[in-house]
Amino acid sequence: MDSCCKNTYNNTFSRKMAEKEYTDYLRNGPLKSTQYLLEPLKDQDLKGASLLDIGGGVGAVVWELWGQGIRKAYYQELSQAYSESFRKEVDKRGLEDSIEISIGDFVDCQQQLPEADIVTLDKVICCYEDFETLVLQSADKARHLYVYTIPMDVWWVKAVSAAGSFFRQLFGDKLRTYVHPVATVEALTVSCGFDKVYEKQHREWYTVLYKRSG
Ligand SMILES: C[S@@+](CC[C@H](N)C(=O)[O-])C[C@H]1O[C@@H](n2cnc3c(N)ncnc32)[C@H](O)[C@@H]1O
Repeated sequence: MDSCCKNTYNNTFSRKMAEKEYTDYLRNGPLKSTQYLLEPLKDQDLKGASLLDIGGGVGAVVWELWGQGIRKAYYQELSQAYSESFRKEVDKRGLEDSIEISIGDFVDCQQQLPEADIVTLDKVICCYEDFETLVLQSADKARHLYVYTIPMDVWWVKAVSAAGSFFRQLFGDKLRTYVHPVATVEALTVSCGFDKVYEKQHREWYTVLYKRSG
């Protein structure tokens, strides 16, 4: 990804937004859309597991799964502001040895990242144009569970996504969102050796949990 695109993510997922989102998270818990991703993981025994959360935002997925027993987390994020906000909280909780932070485009830095028992992408694939590479490389990192939330590829979600991108552009925000073909995202994941064990649609969002086969 070139530096112009990176600036786009930093402009959109800014310090102000990170502060607001983290305050909201502390006050009200995870966003509804994040709860969709967490829901199928509630039935899983995560004690002692490791997590790789890609596009982790303010870290809600890490903190929620920490509460469920994970004991090692790799947080990966393109936005400097989100990462800094998350780092402050990691330091505050004294978890610097257990939670590692990687800043940059996952596709560019994935070679330096380890495998993890669980890999999560909460509303991240829809922010990235080359979703095929993102899905293949992230699924490859999952030893056991792979879970994502993406937008449903139906006409009205595409219309809302395109309108959002258009209006953001008008106000100088270059971030584009994408409604990638759900069936292709699924086929790519299955090609990496996963079986689908859970799927649920919540209005515009679609959450799928996979387990590594065999
Ligand atoms: C819509 S936000 C979702 C944040 C968080 N997962 C949540 O649900 O609250 C998408 C996030 O993914 C990050 N992101 C997008 N593409 C990425 C990539 N290729 N590598 C790392 N982070 C990425 C963005 O910087 C942004 O913070």
